[in-house]
Amino acid sequence: MFITFEGIDGSGKSTVAESIYEKLEKEGYNVILTREPGGVRIAEDIRNILVNKNNTNLDERTEALLFAASRRQHLVEKVIPALKENKLVLCDRFIDSSLAYQGGARKIGVENILNINLFATENLLPDLTLLYDLTPELALERINKNKNREVNRLDLEKINFYRDCRTTYLELSKKYTNRYRVINASKPLEEVIEETYNIIEETLKTNEH
Ligand code: TYD
Repeated sequence: MFITFEGIDGSGKSTVAESIYEKLEKEGYNVILTREPGGVRIAEDIRNILVNKNNTNLDERTEALLFAASRRQHLVEKVIPALKENKLVLCDRFIDSSLAYQGGARKIGVENILNINLFATENLLPDLTLLYDLTPELALERINKNKNREVNRLDLEKINFYRDCRTTYLELSKKYTNRYRVINASKPLEEVIEETYNIIEETLKTNEH
């Protein structure tokens, strides 16, 4: 089974994913936790172009194609082999990150981004996608928590960007009702982890039959 963790920056999804991974492993599940580029050299090389601060002229569609390219390499080298070994694969961000960030927030369009990503994954979609939902204001507050400063103009730009991300994620959750589960990420971490664990256990049980 292939499970993905999604949400805007500051939603806490990575912390939850790590905790869930440890819990499942302790329970004896054959599980891996990964994230793009996931230590796959070629995917990392692609990612380096995306994070390089000198690439200020990186075109938005180039960015979208590079995310999709990095995704494919990680999928082929890491995710698919693990699924073939019957492992439970937890992945921190996948196709829906591109749909929300490049499709929604960068306004390239969800359909366009879906098309290039379905080409990249050969139509493979996650079995279960967990969306950690919260307001961009709260997410930014969490990100800034240790920085001890007030919200500034750049933060406000970020809020609008994340607002579009969130809206797109929520639209996706309504489009893909079968694989999506929305979790209220403004609740205390322990509750969010427990809810996540229950959803995964329930889904694993249903898939057994
Ligand atoms: P993330 O994996 O959350 O890294 P970090 O450890 O820095 O939180 O992703 C980094 C950023 O890249 C994040 O803002 C989301 C963005 N992103 C996209 O815009 N599209 C994508 O397809 C992916 C995977 C990430």
